[in-house]
Amino acid sequence: MTRKILVTSALPYANGSIHLGHMVEHIQTDIWVRFQKLRGHTCHYCCADDAHGTPVMLAAEKQGIAPEDMIARVREEHLADFTGFHIGYDNYYSTHSPENKQFSEQIYRALKANGKIESRVIEQLFDPEKQMFLPDRFVKGECPKCRAQDQYGDNCEACGATYTPAELINPYSAVSGAKPELRESEHFFFKLGECADYLREWTAGSSTLANGRVQAHLQPEALNKMKEWLGENGDNTLSDWDISRDAPYFGFEIPDAPGKYFYVWLDAPVGYMASFQNLCERIGLNFDDYFRADSDAEMYHFIGKDILYFHALFWPAMLKFSGHRAPTAVFAHGFLTVDGAKMSKSRGTFITAKSYLEQGLNPEWMRYYIAAKLNSKIEDIDLNLNDFIGRVNSDLVGKYVNIAARAAGFVAKRFDGRLRDVSDSPLIKQLFEQSEQIAADYENREYAKAMRDIMTLADAVNEYTDANKPWELAKQPEQAARLHEVCSELINAFKILSVYLSPVLPKVAQQAAAFLNVDALTWQDSTRTLPENHIINPYKHLMHRIEEKQVNGLIEANKAAAPEQNEAQSSAYEPVAAQCSFDDFLKVDMRVAKVLNCEAVEGSSKLLKFSLDFGFEQRTIFSGIAASYPNPAELNGKTVIAVANFAPRKMAKFGVSEGMILSAAGADGKLRLLEAQAGAQAGDKVG
Ligand code: 2FM
Ligand code: ZN
Repeated sequence: MTRKILVTSALPYANGSIHLGHMVEHIQTDIWVRFQKLRGHTCHYCCADDAHGTPVMLAAEKQGIAPEDMIARVREEHLADFTGFHIGYDNYYSTHSPENKQFSEQIYRALKANGKIESRVIEQLFDPEKQMFLPDRFVKGECPKCRAQDQYGDNCEACGATYTPAELINPYSAVSGAKPELRESEHFFFKLGECADYLREWTAGSSTLANGRVQAHLQPEALNKMKEWLGENGDNTLSDWDISRDAPYFGFEIPDAPGKYFYVWLDAPVGYMASFQNLCERIGLNFDDYFRADSDAEMYHFIGKDILYFHALFWPAMLKFSGHRAPTAVFAHGFLTVDGAKMSKSRGTFITAKSYLEQGLNPEWMRYYIAAKLNSKIEDIDLNLNDFIGRVNSDLVGKYVNIAARAAGFVAKRFDGRLRDVSDSPLIKQLFEQSEQIAADYENREYAKAMRDIMTLADAVNEYTDANKPWELAKQPEQAARLHEVCSELINAFKILSVYLSPVLPKVAQQAAAFLNVDALTWQDSTRTLPENHIINPYKHLMHRIEEKQVNGLIEANKAAAPEQNEAQSSAYEPVAAQCSFDDFLKVDMRVAKVLNCEAVEGSSKLLKFSLDFGFEQRTIFSGIAASYPNPAELNGKTVIAVANFAPRKMAKFGVSEGMILSAAGADGKLRLLEAQAGAQAGDKVG
């Protein structure tokens, strides 16, 4: 029977590049989707860019462009990266779409009608300079537990403590540097606490599929995590979920609530529906068949372990209490490490998809390596670069591709490309026999086991080749029939292995089909041979070996790109600010000043304290350039430029700053003081 399946990968944020971490998930999903399609099921793979939220809004502002323009450009880049790795979405959309607006509003209204939305006034930190409420990650300050400097508003990277932004000592806005104020605002909450009983049941439950298979909603490790979060029976620890944000915000305005927007995480998973609806319109599918409460279609979400909370709690509750079906299952994977460590920009192991493709590395190498590492558990996987080279060269080139290469020449030269019927061959039967086991491994996302089993079969085929030595048979005219048989077995074995690998190596599978002179391979081709006298095409080499220098080049390219990526992500240059008039310019009174003394500030890793001679008076100015000048005394005696009529600013506990010193911000993240040429005197006006 044919299953109806909708599959998604998590929606990448529209303000960052695609890296190999994303690729693990999209490759994992794509393999599964391709497998389902090969088996003849109806399977739709939908994804989109996650386009809303404060970080996207600020990134666009920093680039001096409208968020709509930025997200459109980034979507193109993302899609090019994914397509480059042969990720075959049926639709790649954006959460900033009319369909998503409509579904988000519809779900919100349904939740409200079901009594699941409540409004409450909350206190939140507000940036008075930027005139916006600050998300936790945009407030920084000293950790209230260990007093480490410059910690985010939700948790401390130094001691691991978690807290609210209001608990930070000397908080400042990461957007403007201003001291935030606590302000009240009305927010809307999804009463998740009231959904706890349903979620306890759903998280521990399973769905019986139309084919009788029982599919648990969550992996065992995910269920354990949920139990921690949900508490045991009746012991409800779920807090209600704040789903609104105040303007300015890039997102959808909440119906009947001017100036209030849906929090990005409300409309992000709804983006799965929106992308699917967009596909339905395009190819004429019935959306409700997949989303109505009693739908018999299957829906799977592939995600990273970090966003389980959203997908295993918020999302099923949103769906259920707005009258829709819940997911059939959520499949979480672990993180990707490179050579045993967290991906690092400075080490060049934060590998972008674009750099991988630009360096000319074959995407199917990475698809295979990742498949060879993945299982159904939520375990981190490691990309060991030496192992990557070794495994791809030995398995794909040495074992698999080699089978076709060893037999094709004889078939072409000696038998006009014709094959014998080898359906009774014990070797071929051995390959057929594994078909359902390998299918079960793909179905269960046990890809590493599937790859091992496929390579064991490839070993058997190569051993058979070595035992029968076609190159020796070719030298003996009386062995022509045997040579024909052995080579036909090898070509058929290659075909079966190509089917088994085709979810992982879609391009090679296509080329293999062209070589074998058959239509696109389906799973059924793994249990049938090519007929007597079938003619194959001349063999063209299917895959090269990886050279170590290619991998070294990749790491170097990412190292070189690191500082730029830390900056405004795609441009090394700050966008030019809005025009100002001559009168505006004259308002800023810049003067030459001489550094009498410059020193580090105790308790601040950012500030340097300057005593400056302005000619007409001496002043103290604090400047946030400590990271660029580890040896402040080297600045003594320098002649700098400073704004003399800048309103004095209190610098937390350190004192008052009476001006601002000019420096140039480099794309490398360094600040460099501007110096006046010899002869300029303290107090001289600059203009
Ligand atoms: O964590 C992330 O990268 C999110 N952009 C994932 C969203 S998945 C879905 F809910 F939209
Ligand atoms: Zn701390």
